[in-house]
Amino acid sequence: MQGASRELDQEIEDLQHFCALIKKRAGISMSSAKHDLVRTRLRSRLTAHGLKNYREYRRLLDGLDANDPEWQLFTNLLTTNKTDFFREPKHFDYLVHQILPAWLKTGQKTFKVWSAASSTGEEVFTLAMVLSRYLPAGRDFKILGTDIDTAVLKTAQNAVYPISKKSEIPPEYHNTCLDLGRDEARGWFRIKRQLKDKVVLKTHNLIEATTPGDNVFDLILCRNVLIYFNPEGINFVQKKLHRSVKPGGHLFIGHSESFQGLSHDWKSVGPSVFKKAG
Ligand SMILES: C[S@@+](CC[C@H](N)C(=O)[O-])C[C@H]1O[C@@H](n2cnc3c(N)ncnc32)[C@H](O)[C@@H]1O
Repeated sequence: MQGASRELDQEIEDLQHFCALIKKRAGISMSSAKHDLVRTRLRSRLTAHGLKNYREYRRLLDGLDANDPEWQLFTNLLTTNKTDFFREPKHFDYLVHQILPAWLKTGQKTFKVWSAASSTGEEVFTLAMVLSRYLPAGRDFKILGTDIDTAVLKTAQNAVYPISKKSEIPPEYHNTCLDLGRDEARGWFRIKRQLKDKVVLKTHNLIEATTPGDNVFDLILCRNVLIYFNPEGINFVQKKLHRSVKPGGHLFIGHSESFQGLSHDWKSVGPSVFKKAG
């Protein structure tokens, strides 16, 4: 009995240790309420290494070089990647009715967007569908999609999705943006080549200091990732995004996220929509 209780205490300590590790690596805060999730998600690594318990996995991690591929697998397993095409659709209305008309008047040629936690690609391809539909001839766009999780970036790179996801996309986009699979690809659709070619996907950690550049983007989306960060993490990220967006450019965050309590230089211009002074 005592042995079992000691093992349980040890496992709780190990799960706490994994939570501290993912906080340090990705900024993701996981309380003890998330221990079951951590246990379930990391179980496959115990199996892969033939380990008996989480203490053995902890020891394995502690002995690794910082650039050992196991760290990436660990990180990939502890991220939450839920996303949809046209998620939080009011943002795309705001893009079409507020941002694009003003941008067109500036005479610039290429609208540049960064989706800063793009997961499996639904967000970047939604942007590509909307921009290709609403930008007039002679104007172009480029989209950078980044994520810390290399597995989701592979899915985004493939740009192939199960047909069940087609219903997330308004019908007016189906013919122009999607190729439906036939024969063995039946049950899947692919994002059309001309849209995919406008998207570049890269690994990027929001809580590291590097950025894709200063004053580069007309619009940044950083949606449904700040919810996993503590106020210090959110503050670090918002400053970094502020540097990356052009003067007069916009930022979309998730509808359940906010900068409340932080002192920042953004102007709030709509629900979960911010603007950098121009
Ligand atoms: C819930 S998904 C949101 C996807 C999309 N933005 C949306 O709103 O549908 C959150 C994504 O944030 C990514 N993520 C978590 N921590 C990150 C970090 N430190 N840097 C970059 N991406 C991160 C996860 O891998 C995951 O794919």
